Amino acid sequence: MTKSNKSATLTIDGKSHELPVFSPTAGPDVVDIRKLYAQAHVFTYDPGFTSTASCDSTITFIDGDKGELLHRGYPIDQLAGKSHYLEVCYLLLYGDLPSASQLEDFEARVTNHTMLHEQMHFLFRGFRRDAPPMAIMVGVVGALSAFYHDSTDISDPWQREVASIRMVAKMPTIAAMAFKYTIGQPFEYPRNDLSYAANFLRMCFAVPAENYEVNPILERAMDRIFTLHADHEQNASTSTVRLASSSGANPFACIAAGIACLWGPAHGGANQACLEMLREIGTVDRIPEYIRRAKDKDDDFRLMGFGHRVYKNFDPRATVLKQSADEVLELLGVEDNPVLQVAKALEKAALADDYFAEKKLFPNVDFYSGIILEAMGFPTSMFTPIFAVSRTVGWISQWKEMIADPQLKIGRPRQLYHGATLRDYVDIEKR
Ligand code: CMC
Repeated sequence: MTKSNKSATLTIDGKSHELPVFSPTAGPDVVDIRKLYAQAHVFTYDPGFTSTASCDSTITFIDGDKGELLHRGYPIDQLAGKSHYLEVCYLLLYGDLPSASQLEDFEARVTNHTMLHEQMHFLFRGFRRDAPPMAIMVGVVGALSAFYHDSTDISDPWQREVASIRMVAKMPTIAAMAFKYTIGQPFEYPRNDLSYAANFLRMCFAVPAENYEVNPILERAMDRIFTLHADHEQNASTSTVRLASSSGANPFACIAAGIACLWGPAHGGANQACLEMLREIGTVDRIPEYIRRAKDKDDDFRLMGFGHRVYKNFDPRATVLKQSADEVLELLGVEDNPVLQVAKALEKAALADDYFAEKKLFPNVDFYSGIILEAMGFPTSMFTPIFAVSRTVGWISQWKEMIADPQLKIGRPRQLYHGATLRDYVDIEKR
């Protein structure tokens, strides 16, 4: 953290307080209010963290006005176009792109941990057969701490490293098993001769009765979806992982908390909600009705896959995915897919509408990802689990960064209290 020569002055009741200001390598200056309560006996109020930097980080940077997303300085479109998921995982976890031998070693370490403890199969079998895969994931990932407690001592850097690799390696296996369980097919074991994306597709779609060849274009599209969702600085689920971990809880339990947060329709659940919305709209002629509803203050309906807390311009991930959607649908011979037609027409209509322009609402990553995933054969209930697989490396990278920070403190916000003040207990017969 670099302290700048600038400072901010806050005047309360005629008394001025000087606050230090940090100048980051990118992004707006940050006013340091850590000593404000001790100095001035006031709190700041920012419920959705719209103006609060919750941590000091070197991993990911977003310029929401420009629509720019950088991982360790590298733009997401370059990473999605030229790199691949495991290389991006290395970049996020260790700070730089790997050399060829570093990458080979990293891939070997990840593939060495792709299997799940065999006893975990019984855990899966305890779920109702119609359980949503996301519900299974929250439970199974939390349970990793019971099966791998030899890597839960967060004060030991070696255990932290093993836990990190285990998480990245096992998440596709867990998500694929959750899927297989809910469709009543046997679990497929991971195959370490395949790429991360191809192995995941195989674990989801292969059956013991038949040979399964992974289509290289679908493998590439899957890898791109993983890459585009790998990290997104201090979003809700990442902040959840950081807050849960700040108490010293083990990483598996904290990632389970992140998965729970991701589940909501305002966050990772939006890709499922978006596809369901596109299906409900059904035909292009119904778009005006849905645009009108999205603008109506008395209607709860929002255009899913539109808008973002940080991006006030195109989400750069959506731009890559739009192109990917065209490629995948063409490959599968379904380029006239009605959902894609509705999506394209809806995007055009919303972008031309003053309401969306004034509020700077643009398509986000979830607008096109569901279309691709559905075309690949995934049911909507698998969309958010796939997001969770991709985002695990981001959660883990942010967790590692936080635990290694000597300034680590338990996260403990304060509040603006509007409840009753001190009053005496009244016995029940007198109430
Ligand atoms: N459709 C219609 N109006 C919208 C939408 C939308 N999708 N998004 C925001 N608005 C309006 C909102 O009604 C508000 O209007 P007003 O100022 O008149 O009250 C204004 O825009 C600002 O919205 P906000 O809810 O205060 O903004 P936020 O930063 O708290 O919320 C968001 C961001 C992503 C939750 C929101 O845009 C949203 O609900 N979008 C739909 C769900 C979605 O696609 N989520 C995925 C986000 S990207 C992936 C991820 O992070 O997981």
